Amino acid sequence: MSNVLLVGCGHMGSALIDSWIELKSYHFTIVDPFNYNYLKKKYNKINNIQILDNTPSQDQITKIDIIIFAIKPQVSEKVINNYKDFYFKKNSVIGSIIAGKKINFFKSKIKNSIQLVRIMPNMPSLIGSGVSCFLANKHLSKYNRKKINDLFLNVGKTIWLKNEDEIDMATAVSGSGPGYIFTLIDAMEKASQQIGLSKKISRELVLSTILGSTKLMEQIKKNPKDLANSIAIKGGTTEAGIKVLNKNKINKIIYNTFLAAYKKASSLGKNK
Ligand SMILES: NC(=O)c1ccc[n+]([C@@H]2O[C@H](COP(=O)([O-])OP(=O)(O)OC[C@H]3O[C@@H](n4cnc5c(N)ncnc54)[C@H](OP(=O)(O)O)[C@@H]3O)[C@@H](O)[C@H]2O)c1
Repeated sequence: MSNVLLVGCGHMGSALIDSWIELKSYHFTIVDPFNYNYLKKKYNKINNIQILDNTPSQDQITKIDIIIFAIKPQVSEKVINNYKDFYFKKNSVIGSIIAGKKINFFKSKIKNSIQLVRIMPNMPSLIGSGVSCFLANKHLSKYNRKKINDLFLNVGKTIWLKNEDEIDMATAVSGSGPGYIFTLIDAMEKASQQIGLSKKISRELVLSTILGSTKLMEQIKKNPKDLANSIAIKGGTTEAGIKVLNKNKINKIIYNTFLAAYKKASSLGKNK
């Protein structure tokens, strides 16, 4: 049995927990003081979940194998201060999904932390279709690397990165990515309705098109540009549409989007 402590159970924390509930070889302890009543009610009938209304005691911490901080960057300094003097179980690992906060941040705040890993999951983890990126300090044991990797394999793909910069970049691409995709879907649905289709049909067409296109790309392993060109026959409808995307500098828009999120992730690491 592995004991996992999740500090913060909002959007991302609960997406992870909801996918992990089925894992009977894990016990989960959740600390989220402001949502204690809600969480207590939500996970009431689940045997392998315990909800705490405050920071765990030293005794409770001593039983934990994996700690995951899933709080907002803005409150991280304050919350992590509550953990600064604990003695952790030998061979335990401290993980954080907090955007921007660097490994050194945890090292400097938590006196007895040794094995540290930054993790950047994304929202589709909720249905096991996420992608999680990892960055570990040099002390992470092979055993714990596998353990963390296995845990997150339950919510999708896992990718190990080499430096802090890469994880900030991944934050901008895959961490925030679902937010861009939902914004894009919203725009496509609205445009579909504006040209005359119903709300229901617009949703069905847009979702099926996005799902089908990504699945096709995965299966036939061609470049997106080649696939787009193969549909955009000269003088045809797709070509007419793509011309508008290019005229409005779609590549630049996406680059600026990623760059803004990457800069934000880097700056969150600098602020306290
Ligand atoms: N959402 C995503 O798709 C995503 C993806 C990758 C990474 N992340 C990262 O995950 C972290 C959490 O994001 P989120 O979207 O899940 O935010 P969120 O919904 O605000 O969740 C954070 C949770 O922590 C709680 N909290 C506040 N103070 C606490 C304390 N002292 N002890 C324990 N819990 C406390 C919050 O309660 P209140 O709401 O009552 O304050 C909230 O329930 C962020 O650092 C973000 O960068 C998010």
